[in-house]
Amino acid sequence: MKKETLSLEFTVYDSEKELSSEDAALLSRARQAREDAYAPYSKFKVGAAVLMENGEIVVGNNQENASYPSGLCAERVAVFQAGAIYPGLAIQKIAIAAGSERNPLAKPAAPCGNCRQSIFEYENNQKKPIELLLMGASGEVYKCPSIQGLLPLAFGNEYL
Ligand code: THU
Repeated sequence: MKKETLSLEFTVYDSEKELSSEDAALLSRARQAREDAYAPYSKFKVGAAVLMENGEIVVGNNQENASYPSGLCAERVAVFQAGAIYPGLAIQKIAIAAGSERNPLAKPAAPCGNCRQSIFEYENNQKKPIELLLMGASGEVYKCPSIQGLLPLAFGNEYL
């Protein structure tokens, strides 16, 4: 018998001003995309911007639905769109900007479980980590070096 530990290491920036110009630009695209989110029910808008290996950026935002479960999170709108436009091309980074009118001081929101699984699918296939930049309505930015830390013992297609 042995015990194993899986830990999450990430960087906390006090503000986006501390980011590299590439990261700041990507996060800015995520924030722009958040403006266009369709979130009339939750009023919780999320924007995502995916930086591809060829330097192109693909954005997404949450799309809600009167039949609530039919809606989709910003992260999956963005990565599925990236997969549709650039099949097989690696993803370098994903910036995610969340924010609520109700709670403008909230900490950066990490992707939900379904989105973590969806991002992991791409990371697992490309065999290169996908960096994540997370931000709330304002303030701190979290940078995670890979989706692995957010999805320990992930289920991937190697099990099938
Ligand atoms: N949402 C996202 O877009 N991404 C997440 O990772 C968490 C939640 C959306 C889904 C829904 O439209 C709203 O935020 C409230 O849950």
